[in-house]
Amino acid sequence: MAKIKKTLSQAIAERRATPSFDGAPIPSEDLKQILDAGLHAPSGYNLQPWRFIVVQTPEQKRRLRGASYNQAKVEEASAVIVACGDADGWRKDLDSILQQGREGGMPESYAAQARTSVSNFMGSMNTEQMHGWLNKHVMIALTHMMLMAEVMGYDTAPMEGFEQDKVHEVLRLPMSYWVVALLAIGHLKGTDKYYGGRFEMGHTVFGEEFGKPLK
Ligand SMILES: Cc1cc2nc3c(=O)[nH]c(=O)nc-3n(C[C@H](O)[C@H](O)[C@H](O)COP(=O)(O)O)c2cc1C
Repeated sequence: MAKIKKTLSQAIAERRATPSFDGAPIPSEDLKQILDAGLHAPSGYNLQPWRFIVVQTPEQKRRLRGASYNQAKVEEASAVIVACGDADGWRKDLDSILQQGREGGMPESYAAQARTSVSNFMGSMNTEQMHGWLNKHVMIALTHMMLMAEVMGYDTAPMEGFEQDKVHEVLRLPMSYWVVALLAIGHLKGTDKYYGGRFEMGHTVFGEEFGKPLK
């Protein structure tokens, strides 16, 4: 049974990048519910290239903090989800993705076409393009988890302040993994961050073409 404390609209309006956490442990069923939200994110060809390392022990959080420019909230959070992408995931997963899709109603013709086009598309990327592709997908999954955690009454902090090589070392990640971002989850300690404000819609949204206001 889902634990819901806020509506999605409330979670979006009230969420802040939490400055400090109280460190209380998070029940594993809550953590699983949050992770499950990430696993339901959409992805190109349903390739699901995200991989999540959940860090909860004091020792490992301390080491991860050392790989994250000493940001205290990495160590204070109840759990830190290290959101990675696997550049080689599609090679291993394509068969089972297509099989699962077929079981769910994917037409055979689509599966046959996808097998070729996925290999061509994914196989043609250089490292930089692959990292861009992984960033795009992993951040959607991270956002699903962040908002699910907020809806469940947790506080969150997304983080890009870490060193790729050091996180690799701490977590013993395979070479094909690319660390995209960290998501700290827990309960706020002390005063929440100020609201930094947002641009009004006319600044960032256009209608039909660049520069035209949305009616
Ligand atoms: C991808 C991403 C990376 C971020 N990295 C950090 C970080 O490493 N450390 C930090 O304190 N805040 C980090 N932030 C938080 C932002 O500073 C914060 O979201 C922004 O100032 C807006 O504040 P708000 O989220 O409270 O509305 C990050 C946010 C995002 C989305």
